[in-house]
Amino acid sequence: MVRPHPLLFLLLAAALLPVFRRASAGSRCDAPRDRGSTLSLLPVFSPCSPVQPSPNPSSFLDTLNALSSRDASRFIFLTSAVGNRRHSVPVASGRSIFQSSTYVARASLGTPSQPLLVAIDISSDASWFPSSAFSPTNSSTFVALPCTSPLCSQVLATPISSCTSCAFNLTYASSSLSATLSQDSLFLATDSINSFTFATVATSPASPNPNSIPPQGLLGLARGSLSLLSQTKPLYASTFSYCFPSFRSPNFSGSLRLGPMNQPKRIRTTPLLSNPHRPSLYYVNMTGVRVGSRRVSIPPPALVFDPKTGAGTIFDSGTMFTRLVAPAYTAVRDEFRRRVANSTTTVSSLGGFDTCFNGPVTVPTITFEFDGGLSVTLAEENVMIHSSSGGLSCLAMAAAPDNVNAVVNVIASMQQVNHRVLFDVPNGRVGVSRERCTM
Ligand SMILES: *[C@@H]1O[C@H](CO)[C@@H](O)[C@H](O)[C@H]1NC(C)=O
Ligand SMILES: *[C@@H]1O[C@H](CO)[C@@H](O)[C@H](O)[C@H]1NC(C)=O
Ligand SMILES: *[C@@H]1O[C@H](CO)[C@@H](O)[C@H](O)[C@H]1NC(C)=O
Ligand SMILES: *[C@@H]1O[C@H](CO)[C@@H](O)[C@H](O)[C@H]1NC(C)=O
Ligand SMILES: *[C@@H]1O[C@H](CO)[C@@H](O)[C@H](O)[C@H]1NC(C)=O
Repeated sequence: MVRPHPLLFLLLAAALLPVFRRASAGSRCDAPRDRGSTLSLLPVFSPCSPVQPSPNPSSFLDTLNALSSRDASRFIFLTSAVGNRRHSVPVASGRSIFQSSTYVARASLGTPSQPLLVAIDISSDASWFPSSAFSPTNSSTFVALPCTSPLCSQVLATPISSCTSCAFNLTYASSSLSATLSQDSLFLATDSINSFTFATVATSPASPNPNSIPPQGLLGLARGSLSLLSQTKPLYASTFSYCFPSFRSPNFSGSLRLGPMNQPKRIRTTPLLSNPHRPSLYYVNMTGVRVGSRRVSIPPPALVFDPKTGAGTIFDSGTMFTRLVAPAYTAVRDEFRRRVANSTTTVSSLGGFDTCFNGPVTVPTITFEFDGGLSVTLAEENVMIHSSSGGLSCLAMAAAPDNVNAVVNVIASMQQVNHRVLFDVPNGRVGVSRERCTM
């Protein structure tokens, strides 16, 4: 039985709190430099981030708890993204919107253009911008789409007769928001996209609390019909790659490269799979996991790709820590613990993580193997969340919640840090290679 040691909480809180505290913007907080079709990326938790999730947790345990419950909600969002291609847009009346962003980029919207921050979400189809960051009335090119627009019927399964604009209600956290399907010019780095379709999100007249609105917008890079990729096929040819910097990175040192230009030519890839059960998500075929050099024995159903249930493995940007289906997670974790076993080190659990160590440990590599010969070997920074003093650490993965019927393995953002991850939809492949993120 694994039990948390109370001292762990205190030590972790003291050691890691500064990482999550808002820094006074100094010279370390460099301005982004966006070039061509490449946007620089900033981790949302960075001390330089103007849009850090609030309220700031007061201890590291609170932080871990907040992050795990945020990942748990994200998981429900991902596994409920069921549907056919026509109605796969996760912005629909009464639905809740998630702001489980991990990385943000700069964009501008409207004429004259208004700069704002957008979260990058590869598992969302829709894009939306909050009225706190974008003023439609100040843009001469803004259009609120009418109910009669065919686009409106993609968002609202049952369009409301006798309405003037394509408006619907959303919930965010516990607030209700009103949204309007809109179009305007979107500017990304030096590219411009005319008549880009998105939702404008405002506080609901019924509960006009300005704090209830997300501070930044969201750019949906999934595969459904309203996503950025689907709207920019001539420009970006459904191809992009990113490199996520460490969560602690103080500046915009990550990058999102849109379009086939400047993508890595020689990169190992695995086939991109499409699951009709969740057509928007980027599925791949994970075939095994190694801990150190040893291949972990995982029951085959835990990794299988099943178009009937939606089971399989996806890449996601909005989940922070990798989630494996319970039998796969247990097998990997047990082998990991055996490797780290040390008579002077005890295993404890902390804030949703069940494999934490107090004291120096030698961490084995973890390798995800994919069909087609792609294997991704994680460095220590992708495997352990640990205190800056190095004394305390936790395996940064968890079991997928088992209260959903068709579970997926989610390769999350922390495990992708300092890797170039390429999504090449026309050629049906996903590539991964190690890269330190700088522009
Ligand atoms: C709209 O533009 C005017 C003039 O530039 C400015 O004063 C005002 O603050 C803007 N409104 C919003 C909501 O941004
Ligand atoms: C949205 O909610 C408001 C009440 O807050 C209600 O009056 C309105 O009819 C709702 N709109 C839609 C499209 O459901
Ligand atoms: C980001 O910060 C790191 C460390 O402070 C620095 O080495 C790097 O040059 C910075 N990158 C940019 C693009 O400013
Ligand atoms: C086990 O722990 C001790 C003391 O904490 C440390 O010196 C040693 O390197 C550890 N051994 C391994 C294999 O990690
Ligand atoms: C996944 O990879 C395994 C091993 O290469 C293969 O047998 C299986 O058919 C693949 N599944 C899919 C759906 O491609």
